[in-house]
Amino acid sequence: MDSSAQLSDQHSDISPLDAIAHSPLRFDIISLFPDFFTSPLNSGLIGRALQKDIASVHITNPRDFATDKHHKVDDIPYGGGVGMVMKPEPIFAAIESLPVLPNRAVILMTPQGETMSQPMFQTLSTQYDQLVLICGHYEGVDERVSHLVTQEVSLGDFVLTCGEIPALTLINGIIRLLPGTVGKADSLKYESFQSDLLDYPQYTRPAEFRGWSVPDVLKSGDHGAIAQWRKQQQIERTQQRRPDLYQRWQQSPKSPADHP
Ligand SMILES: C[S@@+](CC[C@H](N)C(=O)[O-])C[C@H]1O[C@@H](n2cnc3c(N)ncnc32)[C@H](O)[C@@H]1O
Repeated sequence: MDSSAQLSDQHSDISPLDAIAHSPLRFDIISLFPDFFTSPLNSGLIGRALQKDIASVHITNPRDFATDKHHKVDDIPYGGGVGMVMKPEPIFAAIESLPVLPNRAVILMTPQGETMSQPMFQTLSTQYDQLVLICGHYEGVDERVSHLVTQEVSLGDFVLTCGEIPALTLINGIIRLLPGTVGKADSLKYESFQSDLLDYPQYTRPAEFRGWSVPDVLKSGDHGAIAQWRKQQQIERTQQRRPDLYQRWQQSPKSPADHP
């Protein structure tokens, strides 16, 4: 079952999640808690991107595919141990009910997967027509679900209660990169993790706040000096905060614009 209709009526008559026609990238979320996604997918830039059909999101609840009278989706682990494990049959049935687009990835949210990164988002945003995201709960999913899965993805080296938060992170990071989501394409070019450097510090008005001033160079109108200052700031903060990235940046081939 496509649960996207449950997410409508937040801010408009037509739910952004219903806006599926002509969408270049289709997300299918396999989740026991479709309501989890209502606000994040209706808000801000992502809500607007979905309204503009830049992508579409569909939610399918494995519970709708459980065949017993209690719609059971979990069971005790073989071999004993604490907690419950998500049963394979409802997950298989949910995924097998979906349309299959030509370039499709089936991604399991798991702390055991590859850690999310900007390059991963870039690949997923450009090379696929459909991303199926499986959100686990309890002690995780039955290992046999791996036969459906093409990729395992982690939000980081920690354990959450559910896969919905990582799935939302992935959707947000990918939709943000799709053409038309962010007003000025340039803002995607100059930000953290582009060319292995963190972003430079940003300031807005007022020029003076509680005794802290905006650096003079940013008020100078000298675009060359501003660009040079920003690049220098990027290099310094990356060196201080992320020596791993800094080392990678040092080793990467440089264009003249990469030097302060
Ligand atoms: C409590 S966790 C299960 C953790 C599992 N027993 C383990 O230690 O690998 C329940 C579900 O939350 C999701 N999850 C938790 N932490 C995650 C992370 N860091 N990245 C991606 N998904 C995560 C997964 O979908 C997982 O199946």
